[in-house]
Amino acid sequence: MTREDGPLRSESWWDTGALDLIGHRSQFRMQGYPEETFLGRPIIGIMNSWSEVAGCNAHLRDLAEHVRRGVLRAGGFPVEVPVISLGEPIIKPTAMLYRNLMAMAVEELIRGNPLDGVVLLASCDKTIPASLMGAASVDVPTLMVTGGPMLSGRFRNEDVGACTDCWRLHDELRAGRFSQADWDEFESGMCRSDGHCSPMGTASTMGCLTEALGMAPGGSAAIPAVDARRRHVAERAGAQILDLVAAGTRPSDIMTRAAFENAIRTLHAIGGSTNAVIHLVAIAGRLGVDLPLDLFDELAASTPLLVNLKPSGQYLMEDFYFAGGLPAVHAQMADLLHLDALTVTGRTLGESIAGARIVNDDVIRQRDRPLHAGGSLAILRGSLCPDGAVLKVSAASEALLQHEGRAVVFESVDELHATVDDPALEIEPDDVLVLRNAGPVGFPGMPEVGHLPMPDYLLRRGVRDMVRISDARMSGTGFGTVILHVAPEASAGGPLALVRTGDRIRLDTAGRRLDLLVAAEELESRRRAWTPRPVRDVRGYRGLYVRTVTQADRGCDLDFLVGSSAPVRAGITHG
Ligand code: FES
Repeated sequence: MTREDGPLRSESWWDTGALDLIGHRSQFRMQGYPEETFLGRPIIGIMNSWSEVAGCNAHLRDLAEHVRRGVLRAGGFPVEVPVISLGEPIIKPTAMLYRNLMAMAVEELIRGNPLDGVVLLASCDKTIPASLMGAASVDVPTLMVTGGPMLSGRFRNEDVGACTDCWRLHDELRAGRFSQADWDEFESGMCRSDGHCSPMGTASTMGCLTEALGMAPGGSAAIPAVDARRRHVAERAGAQILDLVAAGTRPSDIMTRAAFENAIRTLHAIGGSTNAVIHLVAIAGRLGVDLPLDLFDELAASTPLLVNLKPSGQYLMEDFYFAGGLPAVHAQMADLLHLDALTVTGRTLGESIAGARIVNDDVIRQRDRPLHAGGSLAILRGSLCPDGAVLKVSAASEALLQHEGRAVVFESVDELHATVDDPALEIEPDDVLVLRNAGPVGFPGMPEVGHLPMPDYLLRRGVRDMVRISDARMSGTGFGTVILHVAPEASAGGPLALVRTGDRIRLDTAGRRLDLLVAAEELESRRRAWTPRPVRDVRGYRGLYVRTVTQADRGCDLDFLVGSSAPVRAGITHG
């Protein structure tokens, strides 16, 4: 990749016969670029997930301009390449269904074009992991600039975050303690600026983990989207990518096993989203790095929760930035990290966090005063989830972490919404709500419906949490004693498919167990009588997805995309 090692990858597009060459060069000349502006210079693709149907990414055109300036300043030739974008709340049936499609688009657009280096621009939940997955597969020098969080929302005298406070206040609306006028006023102040959601939801988590992996510049994750310093990061990134190209540093040099361990510890320390477990496994899978779920639990045991952000705590990303951001967190837990891990700035993680300090120690806790001593996520196993399930302990109710209750089963998302408020179900606070057929294959796409609504008659009685179990996901901004990602999912024949209303279920968080208390012979008899539900989506991309998606413990990638790719070498015919 380096000048010393050989020609730039892009040069093979110019080093072709006259007929091909005229086509290749004319694509840039027709845009007004004389050939001396691009021939012989590293061509940098700015892979931009800007879209007006992905509001969290709507400011990325502006950031792209700043990346462009940096590339030009450092002697490269920038080209902006639009990629698929996914607006988490808007795209149906769920953004997760299309994460792998976006990853394929990123991968193939890098692979098929004369790009020597790549700057990924992504902001909303799925666009960050999708971009990293695609870039990891091609393994051309890459760095990411994330879109950054929106400013803290404001409702009357209170900071509010999208969407942790939506869930909380919607329950108040359903309980009759909040009027429609209150709700409308709250909504108008919830999202006050460009940027992704402001709690430590999935986008904030993935922004932090991208930095922890070394793929984003140190200190960049928490800078608010509209702060000029995010543009500074973008401009510098445009120059830094040229250094990565010159050094021949690829994603596989940065996203090593050690870097993933740093990311997992970071996930626990920041109280990050349960979704990140799936995304990290999927990104690692593209690089041939195996991340078993048990590794998440093993590292949780010795990683304190240090960041006091919603939904696990009190504050929002804007507070986090001014409290010191991720470098201050990493400095507190330096002995737990692989400090020699390389980052995209060319510095190691240790060099990157040198001198970082906490400015507000209520937002970022000192090591000796954590919010929770043993990490924020727990991996459960047991007869109900032989291949694992995830519980965000830090956002759960302490009193429910050890619990046994009667199962109340909902066969589908539609049935849940149609019946959960029906008093005839006689749901009691000690019951365990179970939703199935909402996993990767069952829905399909594993929507964020795992934060099951509780019956409104219980909300009116003041109940605010129950044990809830599903093969679905939950928004990273959600909270409660919510057990997610049950694997295998019901539609793949997992034990979740066999639960009946009235069965007893036991959650033993301390022992990391989730068990269906039904005799083995009875379960075997139910299994013999079980038939899979017909698959709904059989055509096009959705058909491909349903046929090839892996279970949650394997990252929900498409099975044929898992595994490392051969590095792309210079040349048109063998990318
Ligand atoms: Fe995009 Fe929350 S909707 S980050």
